[in-house]
Amino acid sequence: MRKKMVAGNWKMCGSRCNVDALADAIKKGTKSFSTKIDIVIFPSFVHLQLIENILVDTLVSWGGQNLYLGAQGAFTGEISGPMLVDYGCQYVLVGHSERRIIFHEDLKLIAAKFKTALEYGLKPVLCIGETLAEREQQKTEKVITEQLESVIELAGIDAFRHAVIAYEPVWAIGTGLTATPEQAQEVHAFIRKLLAKHHPDIANTICILYGGSVKADNAAGLFAMPDIDGGLVGGASLEAKSFLAICENALEKAAGSV
Ligand code: PGA
Repeated sequence: MRKKMVAGNWKMCGSRCNVDALADAIKKGTKSFSTKIDIVIFPSFVHLQLIENILVDTLVSWGGQNLYLGAQGAFTGEISGPMLVDYGCQYVLVGHSERRIIFHEDLKLIAAKFKTALEYGLKPVLCIGETLAEREQQKTEKVITEQLESVIELAGIDAFRHAVIAYEPVWAIGTGLTATPEQAQEVHAFIRKLLAKHHPDIANTICILYGGSVKADNAAGLFAMPDIDGGLVGGASLEAKSFLAICENALEKAAGSV
């Protein structure tokens, strides 16, 4: 049985003061939670130290929203894997659609970042998903295949033993337009089928999150789907109440599965 995960992507949001309050509320709110689910927070880089101070020795893990290749060097503005590890990160987001679209990260760079993350002991959360135009042109499976195969080609299928996948349809991110549980399930099943062609065991055990306007009131329906193992949550993770409610939905599903 796969473990459920709820991850909060705080993007370029928060101040020192409200990140402190939000992390503290998450710490208090998850105190009584069991280890049946994984909870991960992705704050901005400048807030990592604060997060480490507050969330150390709790059930909540944290990670970086991005990384660059190598350990250090003349790459102004970039952050490396070892720097993230230094601040207690266990995870890193790779290939988020905002990185692909706004910052023009291509398939090759994303695959290299995925491989780099693993080399430094970080668990990459590989984000994949189609735009609205691609969905309307029935290109969803083609896009997902390209995004996955480019990483498998460089890093090898075995690397996925230590990775998480997040299916995030671009048209659902920050728009309030959530994929229906059935729409999301269809793509999650496709992702698992594609991985199974390379390695059935990895396909079966890998955690595949759904992301795109996950909220407290739609999480239960999404998390009930057989191939949806939790959520990567943006907007609703910026408020402790809604984030904790989403975690509780995942916990209920985890409890119901034993
Ligand atoms: P959203 O963001 O929940 O605000 O749609 C999800 C994401 O970008 O990871």
